[in-house]
Amino acid sequence: MNAPGEMKVIPITALDGCQDPVLLNDWHVVGYADEFQAGTIYPARLLERDLIVWRDESGQIHVWEDLCIHRGARLSKGWIKNDHVVCPYHGWEYDCSGKCTRMPAAPDEKPMKKAVAFPYHAEERFGFVWVCLGEPQADIPAFPDWDNSDFMKVHSGPYVYNANGYRAIENFIDASHFPFVHAGLNGVKDNADRLDPYGVEEVETGLKSSEVRVFQPVGDATGHPLVAYYTYHAFRPLVAYFRKRTQRSDENGQPITDHSDLFGTFFTVQMIDDKHCIVRVCAALNVQPAPDPQAVRDRADIIFNQDKDIVETQRPERIPTELRYELHHRTDLMGQRYRMWLRNKGISYGVI
Ligand code: FES
Ligand SMILES: [Fe+2]
Repeated sequence: MNAPGEMKVIPITALDGCQDPVLLNDWHVVGYADEFQAGTIYPARLLERDLIVWRDESGQIHVWEDLCIHRGARLSKGWIKNDHVVCPYHGWEYDCSGKCTRMPAAPDEKPMKKAVAFPYHAEERFGFVWVCLGEPQADIPAFPDWDNSDFMKVHSGPYVYNANGYRAIENFIDASHFPFVHAGLNGVKDNADRLDPYGVEEVETGLKSSEVRVFQPVGDATGHPLVAYYTYHAFRPLVAYFRKRTQRSDENGQPITDHSDLFGTFFTVQMIDDKHCIVRVCAALNVQPAPDPQAVRDRADIIFNQDKDIVETQRPERIPTELRYELHHRTDLMGQRYRMWLRNKGISYGVI
């Protein structure tokens, strides 16, 4: 990273693709923390930019542009030597800060000051690797209950959606598709829930709904019928969350207990470009007895693949933030407000 006051050098490859400052200055997930081992370079793509992710021997994660300043070769085709990234073309070696420390064709010379790779802000949090390609305007959004040991955490995905990232988020914060897209699990096809009016407000952490009540014949990995009360929360344009409060119920959706369990889902979208994205999810639940984590993952795989199948059919692929292009019913209030929120933020990339 550049010292304060120093001009940030932008890689030439950044002239293509997303120029949206709101997205460039936000944090994005590009992988699960445990998939990156020291000694290997991993390619990634975000907002039409090619990146590398690598972990040094001290355990620190790095995300750089996949570009060698010398002649533009891809560093992802290179290798790691003594905690340095080695470019595959002329063998320049870059240290953890991105500085070139050795040019093999002139091994006795100190590399030029400008011989630096393009490192970005990178952090690990909640089992994910996050990157900001610009200057972060805010911290990584908080994950409710992450630090609470009463909640088991289960990561799932990645789910590759051949679809727009905001469409993926909007689907995640939508309750009226459950009986159809998740028939038999999150709803009943021939007896769809009537959704009572609910509210949405803009809060400090984003956009938040009041509780939305639905019946779920198999609402979680325990396999019991549930009444679920969803609270949706869009933290960022591409990070959302819901908490569902659940009560065991009979087959007709009548609660059989006053006790509520909590099931949170933290939903992240890596926008590869405006029509492709990767969804990564982490659930946090305090259901007792705790279900087998694999059962939680298996259920998430079913649900998010069902979502993927329908979201991939939506046209136009880029989400219209001008409300007149699609129809908005009161039951879609969260999605409608989400689009208005994107618009008010001045988001220009991936929308129409
Ligand atoms: S292009 Fe990387 S060392 Fe020449
Ligand atoms: Fe869904």
